[in-house]
Amino acid sequence: MDQASNDTKFKLPEGFLLGAASAAHQVEGNNFNNDWWHYEQQDRLPKSGKATDHYNRYEEDFLLAKNMGLNTMRISIEWSRIEPIENKWDATAIEHYRKVLLKMKELGLTRIVTLHHFTLPMWLADKGGFENSHGAAAFARFAWFVASNLGQEVDYWVTINEPEVYAGLSYNHGKWPPFKKNLWTMIRVFHNLMHAHRSAFKSIREVLPGAMIGLAKNNVDYEAYRKGNFFDNLLVKLFKYFGNEYFLNRIKDHLDFIGLNYYFSHTLKFTWRGPRKMNHEVPKSDMGWATYPPGLYHLLLDLKKYNKPVIVTENGIANARDDMRQDFIRQHLESMARAATEGVDVKGYCYWSLTDTYEWHDGFNPKFGLVEVNLETMERKVRGSADIFKQIKNQ
Ligand code: BGC
Repeated sequence: MDQASNDTKFKLPEGFLLGAASAAHQVEGNNFNNDWWHYEQQDRLPKSGKATDHYNRYEEDFLLAKNMGLNTMRISIEWSRIEPIENKWDATAIEHYRKVLLKMKELGLTRIVTLHHFTLPMWLADKGGFENSHGAAAFARFAWFVASNLGQEVDYWVTINEPEVYAGLSYNHGKWPPFKKNLWTMIRVFHNLMHAHRSAFKSIREVLPGAMIGLAKNNVDYEAYRKGNFFDNLLVKLFKYFGNEYFLNRIKDHLDFIGLNYYFSHTLKFTWRGPRKMNHEVPKSDMGWATYPPGLYHLLLDLKKYNKPVIVTENGIANARDDMRQDFIRQHLESMARAATEGVDVKGYCYWSLTDTYEWHDGFNPKFGLVEVNLETMERKVRGSADIFKQIKNQ
């Protein structure tokens, strides 16, 4: 499959989860006990403030999701709300998330819940986060607590979101808290996150023997810039191994399903000065990211060897004009349908994101949402592209 089309009819597997994703700090607002908030106040990051006020408007947001034809939502639970002080659990926060999860259930939305989506409670950040073994132990305890208190109301668990993105941007590129630029620290955090995942997996499993537990892995599609070139192909193998497989290989015995976040595809060109990542000659999002649906198909086939169900836990486009989003979603779903016909157990797709969000160091500029949010009035307006989900159901 090299070309994605707009008019082909395709069939998604029976019971397919069709949803949208979000993450607590990006939408809830006022998450003032975490490390992001801390640095936002020091003007080292754009301020998240009230974000989209999802903490108070979750009901309205889920109703919008339901009405656009979705049957699934991926949310995250903000650790710093549940455990604002080490080992002190906030009953109000737990009750809040119980209401949130019950509302999703009432609306018939399958509930995918992430436990770590980039933010840390400040007390843990002060202790070095995942730089040392304390992080994994604290995370396992948090997972145990959430499973014990809310476990009955969760359908799929995502322990950690994009460990390599988190470790890279926070500890090597110095863009995210704690703004470190040290390759060795990054590698240590990366390995500690494997340990954290396995420990959290065991905690949840202990409380809920039947739970479906996974992790959201951001895998990048790589292709050789020159198809028959030995060195370009070698680069593809190396990048795929270290970027996509290394982490999964080490946690695969603690994984009931694979969550795949797909945003990037590059061609790789060998030069004597080092590898060059090239962009495909395809339309780009507002952020300059290439839109390349065949990449999703390739990545799904790559995951086949793990023999696990796969949920695309994120895939989305920043497109304020909303003139690319509908084709983007259709073509990525078509890639999933094709992978299914080739034996990949694809269970679902969550578009990123339900609403516009606080896009981390890019602030509120990128517009990923199926729903536009007026940040002054908090008024929601469903974008035209969201109609795609009804079209797919009816085809
Ligand atoms: C992250 C999201 C983020 C999205 C778009 C993903 O890597 O999980 O939190 O908003 O990319 O930038």
